[in-house]
Amino acid sequence: MIPSTHSSDDSLGARNAGLPGPRLLSVGGGKGGVGKTFVTANLAAALARAGKRVVVVDVDLEGANLHTCLGVASPQKTLADFVSEREDDLGKLLIDTPLANLKLIAATHGNLADAQPSHLRRVRLLRSLRQLDADFVLLDLGAGAHASVLDYFLVSDDGILVVQPEPTSVENTYTFLRAAFYRRMRLAMVGHGVRQLVTLAMDQKNERGIKSPLDLLREIEATDGAEAQRFVETMRVFRPRLVVNAVRTAEDVKLGFAIASVCKKYFGIEVEYLGYVNHDEEARRSVSLRRPIVDLRSDTDVSIYLQRIARKLLEPAASRG
Ligand SMILES: Nc1ncnc2c1ncn2[C@@H]1O[C@H](COP(=O)(O)OP(=O)(O)OP(=O)(O)O)[C@@H](O)[C@H]1O
Ligand SMILES: [Mg+2]
Repeated sequence: MIPSTHSSDDSLGARNAGLPGPRLLSVGGGKGGVGKTFVTANLAAALARAGKRVVVVDVDLEGANLHTCLGVASPQKTLADFVSEREDDLGKLLIDTPLANLKLIAATHGNLADAQPSHLRRVRLLRSLRQLDADFVLLDLGAGAHASVLDYFLVSDDGILVVQPEPTSVENTYTFLRAAFYRRMRLAMVGHGVRQLVTLAMDQKNERGIKSPLDLLREIEATDGAEAQRFVETMRVFRPRLVVNAVRTAEDVKLGFAIASVCKKYFGIEVEYLGYVNHDEEARRSVSLRRPIVDLRSDTDVSIYLQRIARKLLEPAASRG
């Protein structure tokens, strides 16, 4: 999602166009319990079943449970070892899963006093993730819009948001998108004054009356034409993806289009609706059985929808548009 031309992004380990390395995907969403881990585990499994070499990483250090969805019991070496600097080589934390082509870097709540990595450690982590020997690396993000969660989302080649068709989840999705958008913009701006303007716009009650990204763009245009151009270009490549999980009705399915349309109108950004997954007790059962449903029952509707989304991820971004 981040253009590779800009120096301030490099510190976060953004992908350099043309360089080899895995495609980095992150799966987040403002609200807890909407199915982020379920979707991550199953997209990873679907990609692995399609013959891709996949590493799935649990970066939800405070609510780690991805290993359980994949049938890995009590991992001994985890991301907590990297965070606490006990282990520097991320490759040594890779664990085999019961599925061919699919490896896991698990997390556990290793150190209750200091679960989140420092900024420097996070930068190191993101660089190491880019160097893993895989076709795809998928990150399972925690809930909320904490700076660390936003950074994982923003540096990924595909940032995927999982939303459920209920007002609380939709509200949190917009909060997440808004936070990610302004953080992205602040990173992209070079001038101190313009960065301050972006910070000001993040406060909804700001004294300049900036209410939307388009208001902010007008303010930037008035002060610095080059920065305004950078703003527009960053806006163009900021392209979050959306999955609507646990749909029950045809109306629920339309939610993805509605969110995309609001984002276009309010932020001026394109959100790609990757697809939906139906609500099914079989999905819950697969979690209880600790097996991705695409592996357990590849012919059921939930699996068919998840595999459809995975196929979209295999397409180059340009042809998806
Ligand atoms: N499509 C679905 N149909 C039915 N149940 C589902 C579906 N998707 C997820 N679930 C159920 O919801 C539970 C919670 O999902 P999951 O743990 O993936 O959410 P999460 O967003 O990762 O939560 P957290 O924010 O705590 O990390 C799953 O264990 C599963 O039982
Ligand atoms: Mg989760």
